Amino acid sequence: MQASQTYPQHDIKQIPYHVAIIMDGNGRWASNRSLNRTEGHQEGAKVIPSIVKSFGQHDVKMLTLFGFSTENWGRPKSEVEAILSLAKDFIDEHLEELHQANVKLKHLGSLEQLPYWLKNRVQHAVQKTSSNSAMTLNLAFNYGGRADIISAVKQLIDEGFATNEITEHSISNRLATAGLPDPDLLIRTGGENRLSNFLVWEATYTEYYFTETLWPDFGPLDIEKAIKEYGRRQRRFGLITD
Ligand code: FPP
Repeated sequence: MQASQTYPQHDIKQIPYHVAIIMDGNGRWASNRSLNRTEGHQEGAKVIPSIVKSFGQHDVKMLTLFGFSTENWGRPKSEVEAILSLAKDFIDEHLEELHQANVKLKHLGSLEQLPYWLKNRVQHAVQKTSSNSAMTLNLAFNYGGRADIISAVKQLIDEGFATNEITEHSISNRLATAGLPDPDLLIRTGGENRLSNFLVWEATYTEYYFTETLWPDFGPLDIEKAIKEYGRRQRRFGLITD
C-alpha cells in the first residue's frame, strides 16, 4: 500500500474501501437468450444503479467500473456505437439520482476519441458532482492501463524529470487514478480469470475475486459473497504477518 493512501474511519480488513469491477459477460448473457449482444449491454447498464447502491449499503466508499477499454474500439461498429450510447443514456437517466445520493462521478481514461455528445455529458457529470462525498463512482471509459502508464511517462518527460526523480509516487501522480487509493478488491464477472488491461499499475496488491456470474445477473447476493471472501483474505502487501 502506498504510504500516501488513507482510509478515514474505514476498516479495510473487513470491508474494501475501493472496489473495481470488470463487468464481463453481457454478450454471453444475450446469446444464452438468443438476443443480440447489444441487448446484453443494455441489461448490463440497467443493473449498474442498484449495484452502486448495494455497494454503498456495504459501506464501500469507492467503486470503479470498466465500461469500455481502449481495445474495445476493435469490436464491430454497431456494438461500439451501442455501448457509447448506453453510457450517454446512463448519465442522462441517473445523474440526478446519483447527485442526490451524494455520489461523486469521475472519469478514468481519455475523452479525446469520444463523440462530443458523450464527452460533454461526462464533463458535465464530473463537474456537477465534484463536491459530493458519500461515495465515488469512477467510470473507466476509453481506458487502458498500459495507455495510462505511457501517458504518465510522457508527462514526466515533458516536465523534464531526471531519471533519479522517477519514482512510484511521480508515476502514480500522473495516472488517471492520481490521488485515488488503489483498489482493495477487484471483481471480474463472466468466468474469465484475467485483468484485460484494467488498472495494471494500481491492482498490484489488490485482492482478486472471479465469479462465473454474468454481469447482468450480478446482484446483492454476489456482492455479499465477494465482500465476505475479501474479509477472509490476509493482505500482506509484500510484508510478513503481524
Ligand atoms: C464486457 O462484456 C462488457 C463490455 C465491454 C461493456 C460494458 C458496458 C456496459 C455494462 C454498459 C455501458 C457502460 C456504462 C458505464 C453505463 P462482453 O461483451 O465482453 O461479454 P462476453 O464476454 O459475454 O462477450
